[in-house]
Amino acid sequence: MFRATLLATAALFASGCTTMDSAQEAPVERSAMVSPILTTPDAVDDQTYAQPQVARVTHVALDLDLDFDAKMIGGGAVLDILAKDDAKQIVLDSNGLRIDRVTDGQGNSLPFTIGEAEEGKGAPLTIQLNGARQLRIAYRSAPDADALQWLTPEQTAGGKYPYLFSQGQAILNRTWIPTQDSPGIRQTWEARITAPKPLDVVMSGVRQGEPEDLGNGRRAFRFVMDKPVPPYLIAIAAGDIDFRATGPRTGVWAEPATLDRAYNEVADTEQLVEAAEELYGDYRWGRYDMIVLPPSFPYGGMENPVMTFLTPTFIAGDRSNNGLVAHELAHSWSGNLVTNAVWGDGWLNEGVTSYFENRIVEKVYGKSRAEQEAALSYANIIETLDEVGYDAPGTALHNEGDGELIGSAIAYDKGHFFLRTVERAVGRERFDAWLRQWFDNHAFQPATSQMIYDDMLANLVTSPAEAKQLKLREWIFEPGLPGNVAKPDPAAFATVDTAVTAYAANGTIPTGWSGWTAAEQMRFLDNIPKERTAAQLAALNDALGLSETGNNEVLFLWLELALANRYEPAVPQAEVFLSEIGRAKFVRPLFAVLWDQGDWGRPIAKRIYAETRDGYHAVTRAGVDRLMAAD
Ligand code: BES
Ligand code: ZN
Repeated sequence: MFRATLLATAALFASGCTTMDSAQEAPVERSAMVSPILTTPDAVDDQTYAQPQVARVTHVALDLDLDFDAKMIGGGAVLDILAKDDAKQIVLDSNGLRIDRVTDGQGNSLPFTIGEAEEGKGAPLTIQLNGARQLRIAYRSAPDADALQWLTPEQTAGGKYPYLFSQGQAILNRTWIPTQDSPGIRQTWEARITAPKPLDVVMSGVRQGEPEDLGNGRRAFRFVMDKPVPPYLIAIAAGDIDFRATGPRTGVWAEPATLDRAYNEVADTEQLVEAAEELYGDYRWGRYDMIVLPPSFPYGGMENPVMTFLTPTFIAGDRSNNGLVAHELAHSWSGNLVTNAVWGDGWLNEGVTSYFENRIVEKVYGKSRAEQEAALSYANIIETLDEVGYDAPGTALHNEGDGELIGSAIAYDKGHFFLRTVERAVGRERFDAWLRQWFDNHAFQPATSQMIYDDMLANLVTSPAEAKQLKLREWIFEPGLPGNVAKPDPAAFATVDTAVTAYAANGTIPTGWSGWTAAEQMRFLDNIPKERTAAQLAALNDALGLSETGNNEVLFLWLELALANRYEPAVPQAEVFLSEIGRAKFVRPLFAVLWDQGDWGRPIAKRIYAETRDGYHAVTRAGVDRLMAAD
């Protein structure tokens, strides 16, 4: 009955699903939301092998052991399936998984095949259903699974225990979970995870009770995500970590050695959640916790539900980089509640989130900081478009390909400025009401560019003429930057821009530097002349203390500038930075700058990378490998 409804695109939710509790081996009745699958051509994900219109996963129950010695996660995954009555098989995504056995709910073996693998995409895992609507897959991950980074004790702050974390976005989770790994195929999930004592385990689901002591030196942790999520949002971390609350429903996990600094940096989180709720409606996920990971985490942050993952490199001591927290929190609406059906529409996640982030920052930290951060975002659009061309096809928000080539400027910043432009044109009141209903009406569902466009026509603009005036179609579907863009207030950086002009004209180094905001310092370093002599760099560093800054964003810009000018004194510090930090946004450009410096930089890059590569997550490694392979 609900099978038929579900496969129709119009149906939203069906309830009443039976699942097997993997631990007790007894069927438990679960009332689950089932999200629809979009079937329009623009919503078909070419990065998955799944054929969800034939058979789809609705729930995943993991029962897994973490093996730090073998660097493997292994055990079982029980999948609940919805399928057409005549469906013969289900296709899952897998990448490097070793599948030992597949059985149905009664324990009967089901035949399966693993098809040919494609780089990055992995291989289809096709299972004959023989009428089954529940599957148990016995499997384990490969030691080099791309989603997972296994850290030795030496790679942690504490130095005593190993550590594990995962990164699922975009299509990495198929290296440790055999399921349909597509953002448009939402699934509820639960997990039982065992880990050696005294490690703690966290996941992007709500922890159930206290860990169970298994008496064999291990403990079992249980988690539940009862809301359907895209599977890239299933995440795990395990290590010697402690927790500290920042409010009644918010808190932070980190290694004991990092916890105080982490706590101090995110102590505003409860206010950020309140601000977000005032803007666009209730926070629907229960708790909002964060984990500050070891520095090899390849991103600034990742919006894993109920457990945002954060790099420790955002800690500056003054909360100046915690637009990052606002950003990952905002994804609880844009991205996690309403999700791009395909990665080519990634701006629906990242652009909407960048806009929302800025609104949170404005509410909590004030207009001036928000406007400065928006101005940096705008400058990134212009810099990128100047470089790639205003008619480069990849500069449209909606992309048919994987849309990753142009970096963050389009999905994040152009997406941000699209919403800002519309907001300025129609007024905040109308705009906010529209965005709130967008989240409400598409909650726990996938979305496409065409859908948000249609929704703006239906629920925001009052006439086709207004839509035309707003250039909605041009903004979403055409390259470049529409002429009606709501530019940042030039007053945001008036002081800095004057200082840049003075410095460029006659080398005058600004005097108020230490009182400047982090955004102001970044603006200055972004805009001063790129070609500098060693003497000029030394003078700048002496006067501003750049190499001693506690802000890694500022330090990164200094190192980038210095290396681009073959400034030898910066090399040792760059080497320390690159060996301690694995965040791709910092690591890749620094190696790129060295690489660009041919006979001077390439030997340095090769020497440093030979030492640091093993410490990086697969995401960061892949980026640097690619760069050094090309000429
Ligand atoms: N979801 C992204 C991280 C991501 C993007 C992972 C693409 C995999 C593929 C996350 O929300 C993000 O945008 N992080 C930024 C934060 C910044 C914009 C404040 C980052 O890591 O720098
Ligand atoms: Zn994001």
